[in-house]
Amino acid sequence: MVKGALIYEGKAKKIYSIANNNNLVWVEFKDSLTAFNGEKKAEMAEKGRLNSLITGLIFNRLSQSGVDTHLKEVVSDKEMICQKVKIIPLEVVVRNVLAGSTAKKFNIPEGTSLEKPLVEFYYKNDELGDPFISDDQALMLKAADSQEELNQLKQKALQVNVLLKDIFAATGIRLVDFKLEYGKNMQGEIILADEITPDTCRLWDMKTGEKLDKDRFRRDLGKVLESYQEVYNRLKNI
Ligand code: TMP
Ligand code: ASP
Repeated sequence: MVKGALIYEGKAKKIYSIANNNNLVWVEFKDSLTAFNGEKKAEMAEKGRLNSLITGLIFNRLSQSGVDTHLKEVVSDKEMICQKVKIIPLEVVVRNVLAGSTAKKFNIPEGTSLEKPLVEFYYKNDELGDPFISDDQALMLKAADSQEELNQLKQKALQVNVLLKDIFAATGIRLVDFKLEYGKNMQGEIILADEITPDTCRLWDMKTGEKLDKDRFRRDLGKVLESYQEVYNRLKNI
């Protein structure tokens, strides 16, 4: 397969077309790290490679458990071939433990375990700062086609949560929360897209509570790349 023209560049990935193939795209992970909707930025050599390797491992594992994902083939340390999808403009966040924006919103201490996972939608729109969005608002904005589709997204995200919690637990990591993105492929099926990485999850060491994710960058805790490397090392050994 031959890498074609750049068709989209986001904050963390570049998407290229593939010569003579309209069903697939070539995804390249970037070394850029951003937080707070791009207000805080850094370049970190190796970050793209680590995130690509981590996404490859996790998506393959999920797919073995019956989750439909966009990943077709890992082609290099930081590139993969994926099904072309139309991204549904909703960030689907699942929380097992309260942290980040929802902990702040309700003034509940970070680290409070939840009896039942929370699923939340955020509207994918950089100009608006990806605001929280209710089901009815998502329908009003036509971010999703129907309430059934929103219910499907929640169900799918909860299914991923069960699997992902186990994958990380096997490496001694507590899955606090994470964000997923879904897309529709050429057949109109809703499949898991984007990435699952320390950029998009909160990951705490089960023994020490040490943060191994992008909060190290957001909160200036240092050892950002070392933590991403640690996550990859643990995942590849299970
Ligand atoms: P939050 O606590 O800031 O709402 O974030 C919840 C989870 O979703 C956390 O693991 C980080 C992830 N996330 C993203 O991947 N991208 C985003 O744009 C946001 C706001 C959160
Ligand atoms: N993903 C968003 C950004 O890159 C927000 C965040 O992760 O803090 O700006």
